[in-house]
Amino acid sequence: MNAVDSTRLADLLSQPISIGGKTVANRLWLAPMAGLGHIAYREVLEHYGSCGMTFTEMCSAKALPMENRKVSPVFRWNDEELPKLVCQIVGATPEEMIPAARRVEDEGFFGLDINMGCSVSGIVKRNSGAALLREPEMALAVVEALRKEVSIPLFVKFRTGWTPDVEPAVALAKQFESAGVDCLVFHPRVAPDKRTRPPVLDNIRAIKEAVSIPVFGNGDVVVPEDCLSMLDSTGCDGVSIGRMAMARPWLFAEWTGDPAYSGDLDAGIFQEYALRLADALDRYYDPIRALKRYKLFTVYFAANFTFGHNLQSKFLASKSMDDIRRVVQEHMRPEMQLTKRPNMNMYNT
Ligand SMILES: Cc1cc2nc3c(=O)[nH]c(=O)nc-3n(C[C@H](O)[C@H](O)[C@H](O)COP(=O)(O)O)c2cc1C
Repeated sequence: MNAVDSTRLADLLSQPISIGGKTVANRLWLAPMAGLGHIAYREVLEHYGSCGMTFTEMCSAKALPMENRKVSPVFRWNDEELPKLVCQIVGATPEEMIPAARRVEDEGFFGLDINMGCSVSGIVKRNSGAALLREPEMALAVVEALRKEVSIPLFVKFRTGWTPDVEPAVALAKQFESAGVDCLVFHPRVAPDKRTRPPVLDNIRAIKEAVSIPVFGNGDVVVPEDCLSMLDSTGCDGVSIGRMAMARPWLFAEWTGDPAYSGDLDAGIFQEYALRLADALDRYYDPIRALKRYKLFTVYFAANFTFGHNLQSKFLASKSMDDIRRVVQEHMRPEMQLTKRPNMNMYNT
């Protein structure tokens, strides 16, 4: 990206934004990701800095009221995170979600996010996640009930719906706004599409033009050019980054113009990141869960490299976190060739 565009991108992203009356430092946010956006990853992300808002993994609304934050794998945070941490819940009905929302507010999170985007079968079968988009009356009932229950900022993460026509999502966006939602994060893909076809940027524009609350765009933003093009072509207020945040967590600092991350980065940063995450996972989780979570991360991490498959197979063969550290130390070399765009065969899993 040329210097003029980098500066323009940094200027756009670095504008503070008000969400439900609370100021957020910038407009480049972490997307919620099950298995990936855990407390250990968020601690590492904070080390690199400049992520405007973070989201928990999706938390089951049914389980959340009983969760013990010291042992729960997902409903877990450090109190210093709360000023910019939003808790995402997933559920099917107002009755199921109200007690969860109550607790999220009581614990002091910045906001509450309702998952209406997840289309994995286990979630959809329970009429949760993207299934709510098939039942707009229920989706609206959930939003209305949670709006009554909490006064913290309320977010909805949703997608185009179950057919390519964006009109039902536009209609819902307007209803969500009328019901008091403070911010929409929109992923412009239909529900059965698991990130194989490209997102339809025009659909973000359609949502943005339909409402006056902030709309964040999401989907396939992997290089700064993608981010600028999403902002320019849709008019969205900011961008939410998923998988690429796992691959290169310093992108938040890089794209918002932190001088420490401008120009060519030291190749050692990848190795340092891989070890830092291993240490954080070890501190927060038992060895089995730490290893499982590390392996989920390696898919996106290894996609950084031209021969990422080789590295990935070594990670997957690891039987302990010490094996993982050995792979990082012995098989990650500064001369490993980086891809500009991640290796899509790995990345689209
Ligand atoms: C492994 C994985 C887990 C995800 N889990 C969630 C989730 O719990 N809640 C949610 O709203 N979206 C979830 N998503 C979707 C992401 O938030 C995001 O919409 C999607 O990855 C597209 O953005 P990206 O191209 O920047 O990755 C998940 C995506 C991935 C890859």
